[in-house]
Parts: sequence; structure tokens; C-alpha cells
Amino acid sequence: MAGKKGKAIRVAVIGAGSIGLSHAKAIVASGGQLAFVVDVNKAAAEKMAADHGGQPVADYRQVLDRDDVDAVTVALPNFLHAPVSIAALKAGKHVFCEKPMAMNVAECKQINAAARKARRVFQVGLHHRHMIETAAAKELIDAGRCGKLYHAQVNAIRRRGVPGRGGWFTTRSKAGGGPMADIGVHMLDLTCYLMGHPKPVAVSAQTFQKMIHRDDYTCTGMWASPVPGGPTDVEDAITALIRFENGATADLQCAWALNTVTNKWQTEVFGDQAGILVKPGDGIVVAGQEGSRLVDTTPLLPKGVSPFNNQFAAFFEFCRTGKQPRRPSASGADGQYIQTLIDAIYESAAAGREVRIKPSSLA
Ligand SMILES: NC(=O)c1ccc[n+]([C@@H]2O[C@H](COP(=O)([O-])OP(=O)(O)OC[C@H]3O[C@@H](n4cnc5c(N)ncnc54)[C@H](O)[C@@H]3O)[C@@H](O)[C@H]2O)c1
Repeated sequence: MAGKKGKAIRVAVIGAGSIGLSHAKAIVASGGQLAFVVDVNKAAAEKMAADHGGQPVADYRQVLDRDDVDAVTVALPNFLHAPVSIAALKAGKHVFCEKPMAMNVAECKQINAAARKARRVFQVGLHHRHMIETAAAKELIDAGRCGKLYHAQVNAIRRRGVPGRGGWFTTRSKAGGGPMADIGVHMLDLTCYLMGHPKPVAVSAQTFQKMIHRDDYTCTGMWASPVPGGPTDVEDAITALIRFENGATADLQCAWALNTVTNKWQTEVFGDQAGILVKPGDGIVVAGQEGSRLVDTTPLLPKGVSPFNNQFAAFFEFCRTGKQPRRPSASGADGQYIQTLIDAIYESAAAGREVRIKPSSLA
């Protein structure tokens, strides 16, 4: 039985790249045991294992057969999330999979079916839900401080922040999309979480590709290594309006590259009593009214709370109890909800018109 009570959950991190390193650190910090580090790049697996523990392995299938592995984390390029997660679930492992959950809703459904059949835990790495700002904002919203939420302004905007330009991040067949699938997913998920996951009914979106493929693309730094001459067939910016069944809307701007003066990493939710500006890692501000005065309130929040450690501590608890992730952790259903919006955003942009959300996408 995977993860017996009281014992450290033994984890194999699959993918020893940038986020795999964050997983390894958080697993150790949260009381898990880093048992194996898997990467096709042997040197990367060996380095991470030497630095953080565990045995290096090149083929993920080798760890799925082992009885001394309770859970795996999937820290791979997006096109591998579904096949590796499903193989791990079928092998009886609990799975923590990075965002986006998969390449499309059809894959999300396959993962969720596999988790149900195997009776194993499946959690999505949407760590902004575990940030201290999110907890503070959600507490205020749930206590009624904002009244009824009816709109959100969602921003995930970088002036120049294309990751690994020319590598898998900018290759549609491997990433599923550009900044929407990469960073927009975080901020849109956070917003929908704060709004209480209202049922989405329609999306109107536009994607742009103005910067990413240009020879004179210039940046001051890059997440992941560039591959000169590699594919850049994804968007570099998106704008989208989402309508929800309860009448609320969300207005999303998301970009890896945009000629803007200010990077923006925030969401602002607006209610009929107050609004809240949430800047993950940088506090919240409540825009309210007291009597005849408009008042901004800035709560002082604890520092040094690691959302990565929090989400792994929660994952280990789910592995021990066998219960599916509950919020703030992101379940497979939550991953499918946000993938439904991502699919609709790309569908609307391709069609050049508003598209309706198919109720079957959310089921
Ligand atoms: N939660 C976050 O904030 C966050 C941040 C960055 C990335 N991510 C997500 O994490 C995932 C990985 O991103 P990254 O930045 O770490 O990418 P990366 O390119 O740095 O790392 C991916 C690793 O996977 C390895 N790999 C590729 N195919 C493999 C296979 N078949 N078997 C074993 N290893 C294989 C590569 O060699 C590489 O080391 C992506 O889904 C990304 O969206 C999440």
C-alpha cells in the first residue's frame, strides 16, 4: 500500500529540469523522501541526485515497476504530462503533475479516469493557490468582505519573458500553447479559485504573434535554455474575455513578450462591497469603503511561507489518507476546469469569434 501512515512518502521526481529542482527541494523540506531522480539527460539526473538525494535513473518506466516508490512528480514538457501520469497511475503510484495538467481537455479526462480507476491521488502543480496572498484574499472573500464578485482583471504580463526560445516551450506540439499554457494558466486558475469556480459559458479571445519569432528578439534574461533556430509556432500574447453563468466576467491579458513598461503578475477581483488586488509574493490590497470614505487596506502578511512546501505537504497528506486533493490544492477536476478555459481561448482565437463552453468539457 503506497504511503503507509507515519512513513515518509517515497517519491520519484520525473524531469530534472528547472521545476524538477523545486520539487526535489520541496519534497525534502516537506518530510517526503526523494527516492529517485529521472531524466533522459543522465547528467541532469545525476547532478540533482547528488545535490538532493535519491538514485538517478534515465527511463521513467524503471521507477514505475518498483515497490519502494509511492508517488511520482511529473516535471516534464507538457506533451508528456498525460502519458506519464496515466502510466504512473496504472502502476499504482500517486501523481503530482505540473501545470498545465495536459495538452487539452480530452487528455485531462483520460488522466482523471485513470486516477479514479486506480484509486490513486492526482494533484496539479498550481502553487499560487498555496501562496499567503491567496489565503488572505480567499479568507476575506469567503467572509463576505467583497460582497458579490462580478468581474476580474487578470494579468500575467512580461515585457520580454519567452522561456527556452526555440525549445519545447515554444513548440506547439510539445507545449500545447504559448504564454496562456505557461503563465496565464497560473493567474487564471488563481482568479477562478478566488471567484469560487463559477461555471464558464463563453469565451472571446485573440492571440498575437508579434515578437517571439523575430531575429531581433531581445531580452534581459531567459527561463530555460534557448535553442537557436528552433520552432516558435506559439502565440506571444493573448487577450480574452470569459463569461460565467452567474453573470460575472474575467478579462485576461497574458504575454511572454509585449512592448509594455511594466511587467504585471496580479489579479484583481471586484465585488459590490469591495475589490481585492492580489499580487502573488507581493501582498494584497482591499479597495473598500467605510462610511463616506474610500479606504485601501493593506494587511501585513507573514513572510517566508513557501507555496511549494505547502503544496507538497498537502500532497503527502492526500497520499497517506488516499483522499483526492481538496482546495486549496488543485485536483484533477480543477486542472480540467482550467484546461477547458485554455482550450476555449485557443478555439475562439482560431475562429475569430466568441465560442460557447461545452458543458461536457467540465464533466
Ligand atoms: N509551477 C511553476 O511555476 C512552473 C514553473 C516552470 C515550469 N513548470 C512546468 O514544469 C514542467 C517542466 O518545465 P521545466 O521548466 O522544468 O522544463 P525543463 O525543460 O527545464 O525540464 C524538463 C526536463 O525533462 C527532461 N525530459 C524530457 N523528456 C523526458 C522523458 N521522456 N523522460 C525523462 N525526462 C525527460 C528534460 O531532459 C529536462 O531535464 C512544464 O510542464 C512546465 O509548464 C511549472
